[in-house]
Amino acid sequence: MVSLKVNLSGLELSNPIIPASGCFGYGKEYINYYDINILGSFSIKGTTKDLRFGNATPRIAESNCGMLNSVGLQNPGIDHVVEYEMKEILSYYSKPIIANISGFSIEEYEYCVKRLKGINNVGIIEVNISCPNVHDGGMSFGTSADMAAKVTKAVVKAADKPVYIKLSPNVTDIASIAKACEDAGASGICAINTLLGMRIDIKKRKPVLANITGGLSGPAIFPIALRMVYQIYEAVNIPIIGIGGISSAKDVLEMMMAGATAVQIGSMNLTDPYICKTIIDKLPDELDKLGIEDINEIIGGAHK
Ligand SMILES: Cc1cc2nc3c(=O)[nH]c(=O)nc-3n(C[C@H](O)[C@H](O)[C@H](O)COP(=O)(O)O)c2cc1C
Repeated sequence: MVSLKVNLSGLELSNPIIPASGCFGYGKEYINYYDINILGSFSIKGTTKDLRFGNATPRIAESNCGMLNSVGLQNPGIDHVVEYEMKEILSYYSKPIIANISGFSIEEYEYCVKRLKGINNVGIIEVNISCPNVHDGGMSFGTSADMAAKVTKAVVKAADKPVYIKLSPNVTDIASIAKACEDAGASGICAINTLLGMRIDIKKRKPVLANITGGLSGPAIFPIALRMVYQIYEAVNIPIIGIGGISSAKDVLEMMMAGATAVQIGSMNLTDPYICKTIIDKLPDELDKLGIEDINEIIGGAHK
């Protein structure tokens, strides 16, 4: 019997499969497809201090083997999430979730973290310093090691849960930013968020997205995400959640061999709502074929 259990800073997951923030809402749309309690965990939609309507539409554009989004962190605000969504989640999901937060100032990040204090069904706080679709804050915290460290320090001080920092791939040296977050007290790193891109409507001669640019995600970005997780693993000694373009059980194994302890799956949930279940079902067979009994054996395996 192959063991799929992994551990993220003391939080034991029955398997490493986690739907990514922004691609799974609060989970409730998926309960009609399968019992989401089979998931290792899931990351909720990015939450900010105040409610946000997000960017103007169109804010989704298609692309080969991927998609662009410029949603712009639409969410009902942390107070509503804590008072309503977190409580409702308890009625259909029995494991701890990952609370993804975002902000436009360090004070906003601190506010969100303080609101999450004492909430037992939050296992990890995922701090998004990498949203490419908002002006001021968002990605600007994630493109400087100094700013990333400042946010990390403030959030870690205010939090009563492990803090994982979600990094932007829109940088030249992601490993040095990961290291700065580790030195500032982060319990783990999540990588990557989306890559800045755009499309043009040739009939209108105008960008497809109202925001002009958006974040590219989906299978097209997998090799980039894999390379970045590999580089981060060489630089830090804290767990990494690998994200970006994962669409199969084999991709999960590759990402874990690059250094991820667990993985998140984003855009693929939008085209195939069963993707996480399919991958969880297939993982034991894929490990068995490689003669692996415990999935932890492969973490960072490509570095040895
Ligand atoms: C529509 C959409 C909304 C997203 N919203 C968020 C968000 O609120 N917070 C966040 O940290 N990442 C957000 N992301 C990024 C994903 O969590 C993930 O990092 C990225 O899409 C790469 O993974 P994938 O290639 O598997 O989709 C969003 C992605 C998409 C496609």
